[in-house]
Amino acid sequence: MVLDIKNLWGCWREKNYLNYKVYFSFMPQSPCIRTATFDDFKRIVELERLCFQREHAYSRRQLRYLLTKAHSMVLVETLDSVIRGFVIVLFRRGTTVAGIETINVDPVFRKMGIGLRLLSAVEDHLRKDGIRTIRLEVAITNAAAIALYEHAGYHQVMLLKKYYHFTHQGSRDAYRMIKRLG
Ligand SMILES: CC(C)(COP(=O)(O)OP(=O)(O)OC[C@H]1O[C@@H](n2cnc3c(N)ncnc32)[C@H](O)[C@@H]1OP(=O)(O)O)[C@@H](O)C(=O)NCCC(=O)NCCS
Repeated sequence: MVLDIKNLWGCWREKNYLNYKVYFSFMPQSPCIRTATFDDFKRIVELERLCFQREHAYSRRQLRYLLTKAHSMVLVETLDSVIRGFVIVLFRRGTTVAGIETINVDPVFRKMGIGLRLLSAVEDHLRKDGIRTIRLEVAITNAAAIALYEHAGYHQVMLLKKYYHFTHQGSRDAYRMIKRLG
């Protein structure tokens, strides 16, 4: 919903302060990107399952580790308190390199720029932390993710044969992609 200035001005002109108040209480919030907390864990698990088939998805245990114990940064994108996407970044100790572990957007909210906004927020945080390079691996079959990363300025530097191993679906090649932060 877009801010309806005409309606707002109407409330003001008529000195209808009650309407004015009601109007604001129903106004949706703007999208926001913030650091995840443990309260977000359930939704992060849900999004992981919405985005990846069981064998390809991180388990609850792995996600709990990434959120609470790893040397990581987890950002969530929200609108009206609903988490629509998240990104997990891992730091490599003693280096100026960080790695994107995963980025997931709820299928309902895809192609709305959420992935790009999460990547941009990651870059802002990492620059402040002195990180110079972001690195990631992506399955060569994941066309949407490759397109997102290329759009965000990442480029392929290596083909990693049989990078992902799955019990029932064999292995899958991946591209390593990097972006140098200016
Ligand atoms: C990959 C993913 C995060 C993209 O999120 P998103 O919010 O839909 O992406 P955005 O809306 O920010 O897209 C930005 C750009 O990326 C590219 N892009 C994104 N999705 C695309 C698709 N399905 N096909 C082609 N290009 C796509 C486009 O260039 C797009 O710009 P445009 O809309 O102007 O064409 C989302 O598809 C997803 O969650 N996939 C499943 C999880 C996953 O595979 N994560 C990556 C793990 S490595």
